[in-house]
Amino acid sequence: MQVSNTCKMVSKRFTLLRLNAIALIAFSLPAFAQGDLTGYWNLRAPNGDGTYREIFFQLEQHGETLTGKWLGRAPDGIPIEGSIKGTTVHIATVPPPVPAGSPGGFARRPVVYDGTFHDGKITLTSIGFRGQAMTGDAERTTHEAAMPPAPLPLPHLIDVPDNGLVRTPPMGWNSWNKFAGKITDKDVREMADAMVSSGMNKLGYIYINIDDTWEAGRDKDGNILTNTKFPDMKALADYVHSKGLKLGIYSSPGPKTCAGYTGSFGHEAQDAKTYAAWGIDYLKYDLCSARNIYPSSEQNHRGLYQKMGVALQSTKHPIVFSLCQYGENAPWKWGAKTGGNLWRTTGDIRDTWESMDRIGFSQLAIASYTRSGHWNDPDMLEIGNGGMNADEYRTHMSLWSMLSAPLIAGNDLRNMSDETKSILMNAEVIAIDQDSAALPTEEFSKDGNIEVLTRKMGDGSIIVGIFNRGEQAVPETINLASIDPSFTGKKLHIHDLWKHEDVSATGNHFASSVPRHGVVLLRVRR
Ligand code: GLA
Repeated sequence: MQVSNTCKMVSKRFTLLRLNAIALIAFSLPAFAQGDLTGYWNLRAPNGDGTYREIFFQLEQHGETLTGKWLGRAPDGIPIEGSIKGTTVHIATVPPPVPAGSPGGFARRPVVYDGTFHDGKITLTSIGFRGQAMTGDAERTTHEAAMPPAPLPLPHLIDVPDNGLVRTPPMGWNSWNKFAGKITDKDVREMADAMVSSGMNKLGYIYINIDDTWEAGRDKDGNILTNTKFPDMKALADYVHSKGLKLGIYSSPGPKTCAGYTGSFGHEAQDAKTYAAWGIDYLKYDLCSARNIYPSSEQNHRGLYQKMGVALQSTKHPIVFSLCQYGENAPWKWGAKTGGNLWRTTGDIRDTWESMDRIGFSQLAIASYTRSGHWNDPDMLEIGNGGMNADEYRTHMSLWSMLSAPLIAGNDLRNMSDETKSILMNAEVIAIDQDSAALPTEEFSKDGNIEVLTRKMGDGSIIVGIFNRGEQAVPETINLASIDPSFTGKKLHIHDLWKHEDVSATGNHFASSVPRHGVVLLRVRR
């Protein structure tokens, strides 16, 4: 008995000692042991329209440091750096450098996710899509689930015939720049109404284009479905058509669009038929997640876009085909061969002087590739969105028109200021863009911050744009005879396309003051 009691006491003391030791070890460890978050994670964030945004991370934890990859748009994922401090998690992508051959660049900003680790999940919030927040739970997943699907075979390359559409650059409106993921059927209808009530339609703005975030998943037969923001796409197309306008839509050759919605991967012909049945007139086809599956090369991009170009033409319904692969592999050299009518030449525009100026002036190098039915697309307009002043927006409109760029407004047409209207609806500037001769704009001179661009119009007149990219207004005198020797000694008719008045020259010398970030735009005739 005695022995047995002593044994019990010893064993009790030993248990206590062991517990103390465990407690000591536990308290001396950091909150999470090294390697805790290491592995694959699937973040699912509700979009608010019945769909979810899914993002996959591959994380490696070393102490408080997180590294790994955001398995998003780049073929091998985008590197991330982050931290876990206590339960607080921070993850940021390290954007890839601007790829070569993309005039205007492709400078991505880091995507940042902040949140907490609890109950085996990481709840993360990110500000993406032009300021819209998304929050969701990331749960552990497997390598297989996180990896993109295997590539599907691409077609043998051919020259797809010209579809005969958009002989002058397309004009219209697109939802992305202002609304991003918030666009709804109601907004689109109201935009069509505003296009007509403002009179923009009479100036040639006829395409009402829904960008990303209309999609849901697919039905059991693989047909693409719309999400709750777009209850009936056919009825919407009928409405837009009833206003004398045309409806555009958006998809991707990848399984996911850039906003993570369902893309056309493996369903190209089926989707083209659906668009035709709905009465869609324009498709913007955005590379997005196809980048994870097919390495970036002219061959692969031609194959991906040709697949949809052929599918659209097979429907026999006229659908403008707008390529969007950010200018990689010089689409101005082969975009038309895929059945394309226009091709983005750059990464995404932002509503800032820096972005618009960089993209706009970088286009001069490839201006000669633009021709009737086949247009360089330096991205949509930001006029009226508030990030630039009126001089800067006049530069935007002047430059895009001189470049024969698509004029796709990106603002809220329902409440435009008079100033915005005066810029977007300047018929004399639009006439440059829509000139059927579509001759390329040339750089006549570059002197410090002053760039003089010229373009010959079909009627023989010359457009002269005196652009001031600098921070101060500059007095500028140009000798018009040096632009066109036939002007020498002639009495010239000079019209200022922003002042809407005729102006005079002394001899052949025209003098004016060009505002900071502004432009003086002239049409000169003998
Ligand atoms: C890409 C395109 C944008 C827009 C978004 C939508 O970033 O370049 O113009 O379509 O995708 O997700």
